[in-house]
Amino acid sequence: MTIKPRILVARAIFPDALAKLEESFEVQSNQADQVFTADELRQHLEGVSGALVTGSERIDQNALANAKNLTIAANISVGYNNFDVPAMTSAGVMATNTPDVLTDTTADFGFALMMATARRMTESEHWIRNGHWDKWSIVHNPLGMDLHHTTLGIIGMGRIGQGIAKRGLGFGMNVIYHNRKRLSDADEKACGANYVDKETLLRESDHVVLVVPYSAESHHLIGAKEIALMKPTATLVNIARGGIVDDAALAEALKAKRIFAAGLDVFEGEPKVHPELLKLSNVVLAPHIASATEKTRRAMINLAVRNLRAALAGERPPSLINAELWKK
Ligand code: DGY
Repeated sequence: MTIKPRILVARAIFPDALAKLEESFEVQSNQADQVFTADELRQHLEGVSGALVTGSERIDQNALANAKNLTIAANISVGYNNFDVPAMTSAGVMATNTPDVLTDTTADFGFALMMATARRMTESEHWIRNGHWDKWSIVHNPLGMDLHHTTLGIIGMGRIGQGIAKRGLGFGMNVIYHNRKRLSDADEKACGANYVDKETLLRESDHVVLVVPYSAESHHLIGAKEIALMKPTATLVNIARGGIVDDAALAEALKAKRIFAAGLDVFEGEPKVHPELLKLSNVVLAPHIASATEKTRRAMINLAVRNLRAALAGERPPSLINAELWKK
């Protein structure tokens, strides 16, 4: 009888995907979907060869302390700020993520959130549900901001940012972007976007969308100072990561109507939401669902499983982050 390698599936996944894994592995799973504490995670990683994890599981030196058999931690997520990559590399643990498979779904959501924010969709729905709608009115119903033929400013121009830019072109938007690295001429042309510095982007955009990865460098990339540069009629959408926006400063600015509105899919310290944001009507809130369609979540799981299977078979995982480990 061959001994199956032991793996951890740290969060609930679709039952059929779990059953498939159980054919090849001895699976320790968490279908209850309770997020492990740091201590629990360290214990669960002990003795397993691979782990499927999400952004809620921080893989650092502490988590790896007893994970002597661990070959790979495969994130079911494109963002990997939950990984301490240098710590993983020095422990010899491969780190992988799930790029590409969620690009269009996430770009769709970014655009949807921008539209909902500019056109006050959730506020309007609450207004109806609360019994305020007694007549059609030219001036007294919620009036929003146009998207078509306005300027869309994207901060973070990776695959998802470029997807949002292309959607903006369909709305006749003037697309500007800021990114650590400027795109090639061909990529700029493909998404009709012009590169500008961050300050120009904030000053000129009617709608600002954040799609930048979280790092120490992007922490509070948008705070009171940056919001002050924006037009009072502008909207701000964050589908990147909590912590990129200073949520307290944003709540202040929204309260004082320094900008028109914000749409947030991610929050500092989520799932907690800054209490001041919860009181405001000019903010659309979503529970980190930009990639949440069943088709895409299945594609993310499949890619993470492909990464895990490859690593455990001694092959290079398709989306290896710490490639230097492979060279070694
Ligand atoms: C991602 O893939 O990074 C999403 O934000 C889910 O974590």
